[in-house]
Amino acid sequence: MRKKIALIGGGQIGQILAMLAAQKELGDIVILDVPGYANVCKGKALDLMEMAPHGNYDANIIGTSDYKDIEGADVVIVTAGKPREAGMTREDLLNVNIKIITEVANGVKQYAPKAFCIIVTNPLDAMVYVFHKVTGFPKHQVIGMAGTLDTARWRAFIAMELGVSVADVAGTVLGGHGPDMVPLPRLTTVGGVPLTEIATPEQIEKLVNRTREAGTEIVKLFGKGSAFFSPAWSAIVIAESYLKDKRRVLPCAALCEGEYGVNGLFIGVPCLISAKGMEKIFEIKLTEEEKAQFQKTVASVTKTVSECNI
Ligand code: APR
Repeated sequence: MRKKIALIGGGQIGQILAMLAAQKELGDIVILDVPGYANVCKGKALDLMEMAPHGNYDANIIGTSDYKDIEGADVVIVTAGKPREAGMTREDLLNVNIKIITEVANGVKQYAPKAFCIIVTNPLDAMVYVFHKVTGFPKHQVIGMAGTLDTARWRAFIAMELGVSVADVAGTVLGGHGPDMVPLPRLTTVGGVPLTEIATPEQIEKLVNRTREAGTEIVKLFGKGSAFFSPAWSAIVIAESYLKDKRRVLPCAALCEGEYGVNGLFIGVPCLISAKGMEKIFEIKLTEEEKAQFQKTVASVTKTVSECNI
């Protein structure tokens, strides 16, 4: 039997998720949105069914606003919520998206209690916290997508700056999905060559800053709405690792219970994503400077989570 992927939110990111999940034949796809947008999602689903003959995939794809349709889903990816507009921080979305995530979490808890859940809605680290609290799901079953995206941006900017293939850039970005996230130049390599040996300190500083502000750079260009291609791909990479037991090591917002000195908070850390879900958090021995940066991002996430009053 085919796997089932439930996409909660069928907007900009949701529709790309549906296309990628179909093209990768991850399973049958349900796009769920609010009743007022259900017909649009039915249209998007139908359009994707009609793309299948040339897209070369087999999948049943439907749009709905009824949680019964996500029953038994193996994976749930949540993008329901408002995106940013120019001049807004991710935190500005907090109050409106808490209500949406609470409603979504209750729906998922009732109809897809075994699903591996990937949260994309911002402010990410707080929304995944709320989703986890409301569902009460075990920690291996709930993660936030952001570190995988932040790392993709870090790698992309390095490749652009140095004129090398992005395939050869390896590295990671830790911490919350905000301007004090922690790219790790010390542990980044280009075809095995340390980044710190082929880029100048000025170049590295520029790359770190651009990565931290990457989402905002796109929001400013759009004026309304935020990035959708790269967030969708990042969530699909995580879903695929779970569904195919690929055992990828990806930075995700995971519930830390002592790791990195953090307790009871979801924050971006390197995770093993397997058929068990978020199987394991890898701890990196950080330098004093990296530790200080990590503590700063933890403080930001702690503040946002405390404002959730949950
Ligand atoms: N239940 C289901 N869907 C909902 C709900 C709800 N309660 N409330 C809103 N939605 C839907 C909207 O109707 C919309 O179709 O969520 C969708 C969000 O889509 P977009 O507005 O296009 O936003 P998108 O760019 O996809 O970003 C979604 O991901 O990266 C984050 O910051 C971004 O929080 C935002 C989220």
